[in-house]
Amino acid sequence: MRRISILGSTGSVGVSTLNLIEETLMPGVDYTIEALCAGRNAALLAEQALKFRPAVAVIADEAQWPLFQDLMRGSGIEIACGIDAVETAAARQADWVMAAIVGIAGLKPVWAAAGTGATIALANKESLVCCGRALIERAEAAGGRILPVDSEHNAIFQVFETTQRDHIRRLILTASGGPFRGRTREDLKTVTREQALKHPNWSMGAKITIDSATLANKGLELIEAAYLFDMPASQIDVLVHPQSVVHSLVEYTDGSTLAQMGPADMRVPISYCLGWPDRHPWKAPAFDLRAIGTLTFDAPDEEAFPMLRLAREALMIGGLMPVVFNAANEVMVQAFLAGRIGFLDIPEAVAHAMKKAESRSMALTVNLGHDIGQILLTDAETRAELAGRCGAFDVSQAATA
Ligand SMILES: NC(=O)c1ccc[n+]([C@@H]2O[C@H](COP(=O)([O-])OP(=O)(O)OC[C@H]3O[C@@H](n4cnc5c(N)ncnc54)[C@H](OP(=O)(O)O)[C@@H]3O)[C@@H](O)[C@H]2O)c1
Repeated sequence: MRRISILGSTGSVGVSTLNLIEETLMPGVDYTIEALCAGRNAALLAEQALKFRPAVAVIADEAQWPLFQDLMRGSGIEIACGIDAVETAAARQADWVMAAIVGIAGLKPVWAAAGTGATIALANKESLVCCGRALIERAEAAGGRILPVDSEHNAIFQVFETTQRDHIRRLILTASGGPFRGRTREDLKTVTREQALKHPNWSMGAKITIDSATLANKGLELIEAAYLFDMPASQIDVLVHPQSVVHSLVEYTDGSTLAQMGPADMRVPISYCLGWPDRHPWKAPAFDLRAIGTLTFDAPDEEAFPMLRLAREALMIGGLMPVVFNAANEVMVQAFLAGRIGFLDIPEAVAHAMKKAESRSMALTVNLGHDIGQILLTDAETRAELAGRCGAFDVSQAATA
């Protein structure tokens, strides 16, 4: 029987994870839930807690505490509130942790969970982008490991032969291209929040959907892949594949290229992480290649979508530059979602923040050891740097969102 914690249980990935668990595992026989944590959605968290009976349920947003207490009254379930309480819950001993908080808010909880020796199914790519290999090393030193939930990295993980890593020539991440594939930079000047939120293939939370529209998501994934698979930027390519059928590929030196395919449904990679090292059967949707018919692949347009190039630069500079890239992107996406700025202000501000970070000759080499303080400081400095570009959006809101 496994003890399972879900960080970000009310989000898109969190809900899919609970659905899979409910569909395929027996409570009290196969699993118990140790912790459920959420940001603001007290009603859904309470509903989940009453159904799954975790040892503890935590709501991060203190404004939701009175409502959450009301909803949980008489349940006998331990409850708590606040960002620190989320971190404390993440540090509780569990066997399997789904890390599905969005953004930098996931960093401290993921870092805490990594110290427990649990197997961490990592959806919160932002924490890995910021911590780099230190997060993986922390998990492994504690006797645990990080399993990638992102469909692209999960695909690579499935076809990456660790014993043949000297024979791996390239990793190829596929990208749907998002809702604005084929648009020019000129076209992108006037696109709206609503248009950007309409992803053609995937149903996801708002932040990652905007990241998909700017290609920042692919940029974050490029950095994520470099750290997860310990590969240099020069050996990671991106191909635009609008059908989202081939989730990523690994090219070997003997001319073989292995790919993982499947429906565009996050329950596929989540189930792989739930079952690993075995397969976890569930009622997966039919996958009919005849109905799909044609698969196409193209180079990304880095002129119209510069976020991919900026992410690659951040990775190559290394140290804290991925933290700057991530923080700048996150705060500008929040401002875009709040209707304060235009779509193209996002890459423009990220490029500005990266330039400033370089010109401040910020200590860009970092030896994290067991301290994430430097990351949080750089995150805060980057947000402050962009305060004037966010259209009066409160940059501190993004840090706790
Ligand atoms: N969705 C996908 O298909 C997908 C695919 C690959 C990777 N990912 C990655 O997975 C992560 C989650 O994505 P998502 O699409 O599931 O996002 P989402 O739908 O926006 O959900 C985010 C979750 O984080 C919670 N949260 C926010 N701040 C928190 C805090 N301070 N403490 C505790 N919980 C907090 C939210 O709670 P409330 O809703 O209650 O506020 C919610 O449960 C992101 O890093 C994303 O890049 C997602």
